[in-house]
Amino acid sequence: MRLTIHDINQLKKAKKKIVCATSYDASFAQILDSHVDIQLVGDSLGMVVQGHQDTIAVSLEEMVYHTKCVVRGSKKSMVMADTPFLSCRNVEQTFITAHALLAEGATILKIEHASIQPMLIQSLSEQGIAVCAHIGLRPQHILKKGVYQYEGVTSESSAQLFEYAKHLEMVGACMILLECVPAKLALDITNALQIPVIGIGSGKDCDGQILVTYDIIGLSAKAPSFSKNYLSTTTGISQALSNYAREVREGSFPDQSHIKY
Ligand code: KIV
Repeated sequence: MRLTIHDINQLKKAKKKIVCATSYDASFAQILDSHVDIQLVGDSLGMVVQGHQDTIAVSLEEMVYHTKCVVRGSKKSMVMADTPFLSCRNVEQTFITAHALLAEGATILKIEHASIQPMLIQSLSEQGIAVCAHIGLRPQHILKKGVYQYEGVTSESSAQLFEYAKHLEMVGACMILLECVPAKLALDITNALQIPVIGIGSGKDCDGQILVTYDIIGLSAKAPSFSKNYLSTTTGISQALSNYAREVREGSFPDQSHIKY
């Protein structure tokens, strides 16, 4: 049986860490299945699988294809499908995107922060669709920002993100993914919300952690400083993923060396 949103919520309630990693194909999905609670079919595949500089070129058709592969390869973990750049411009288009990904067996969608994000999440939620709101650093905004950098660093932007996260929960988000925000802000958001908060580069106090699997196994040419190569200290991909999952569950990853703010 696949884990459901209810099961993931129970982990938060029981103060058990939620282990997540990205997944793009059936072979990795099969290995990850024994170790993680959630497999994210992330649009990071544009970079680590397709070799692009960023996630902008990834299409909905490609996300559907990779979601299909990951669902086929896994039995137990929840599959979260990312909505690619410009695939959620309005409510109507978002429902088409949602249907395409959910029809392949994904349980939950991930949507990056945009000004219409709350409205989209509310509409999807009213139709019974589970959504994870991705806030903080938003890789799909790279063309406008020109640089990948931490968000919520000033007291003003930190307060804004805190209020925004609460608003997203209120309009029906089932989960929050916090990318690259200061650890104290991540702690405050995690404590303030009932829904699970998954962090990446956001300190150790979120309800769960996610990393790009290719970073965990040292495949990425330039891994971010908040990630950790678990294959450098063991042999075998499954053992490396198992060590990552264990360290997240026991709270030893991330440690101080992975925390910038
Ligand atoms: O696309 C992705 O893989 C992501 C993770 C880095 C969180 O959004």
